[in-house]
Amino acid sequence: MILIKTADEIELMRQSNLLVSKTLAEVAKQITPGVSTERLDQVAETFIRDHGAVPGFLGYQGYPKTLCTSVNSEVVHGIPSEKVVLEEGDVVSVDCGVLINGFYGDTAFSFKVGVVSEKVRKLLTITRECLIKGIEQAVDGRRTGDIGNAVQQHAESNGFSVVREMVGHGLGRNMHEAPEVPNYGKRGTGPKLKRGMVICIEPMINMGRQQIKQEPDGWTIRAADNLPSAHFELAVAIDKEKADILSTFSYIEEVLKNMNS
Ligand code: MF3
Ligand code: CO
Ligand code: CO
Repeated sequence: MILIKTADEIELMRQSNLLVSKTLAEVAKQITPGVSTERLDQVAETFIRDHGAVPGFLGYQGYPKTLCTSVNSEVVHGIPSEKVVLEEGDVVSVDCGVLINGFYGDTAFSFKVGVVSEKVRKLLTITRECLIKGIEQAVDGRRTGDIGNAVQQHAESNGFSVVREMVGHGLGRNMHEAPEVPNYGKRGTGPKLKRGMVICIEPMINMGRQQIKQEPDGWTIRAADNLPSAHFELAVAIDKEKADILSTFSYIEEVLKNMNS
């Protein structure tokens, strides 16, 4: 069953997702060679609690941290650690969730650490474009397969591959609700999208092959060929003409602009 949110509920969800968006901007300020992913996690947890919210991932199915920080060939669900120190040329996907006023926010951004290779820059650009192309399909009357098809088409036509095992999802009073939102598929297939549904679209795109492996920590998902992977996620409410995007990268962009000037 796919829940339809009222206008009031969508406004609450906008607040949840804006808080996650602002948290990621706080994290962005810290991203530089030499910082540990544990430090990023502490900054995020403090910011979330200072704003009267609760980290959404902490304790979720036993997950131990506030953020997922996935470096280079790690696709998603990397666990922040004092032992993981970012280096020049790395790419790190930071995924964050919060719970406030009964609703979850869930958003992710892949950051460059210092100067990265041209191939990694392209991976980041294309993955972000995949997300936008997915969002363009997130309108009333379309189906989840239209989103997946748009994402897959853009990734593969640029020589990259789509991770299949993890998918986007409905978002609301639970972090993962129906429907599943795959990043691949056929047009006109899958559950129909209706105004008032809220979903997270989150392409996970590999530079090399699509296959993944699970690390022994029980969480970290890594590209099987150990090549870099990127991940961007936004929460959107389905609407008639175009999606109402509930989270935003604009706070992150503002921070990155100031850091590079
Ligand atoms: N935020 C992830 C997603 O985008 C899920 C993280 S699950 C956790 O769906 F357990 F790692 F928190
Ligand atoms: Co997420
Ligand atoms: Co998600």
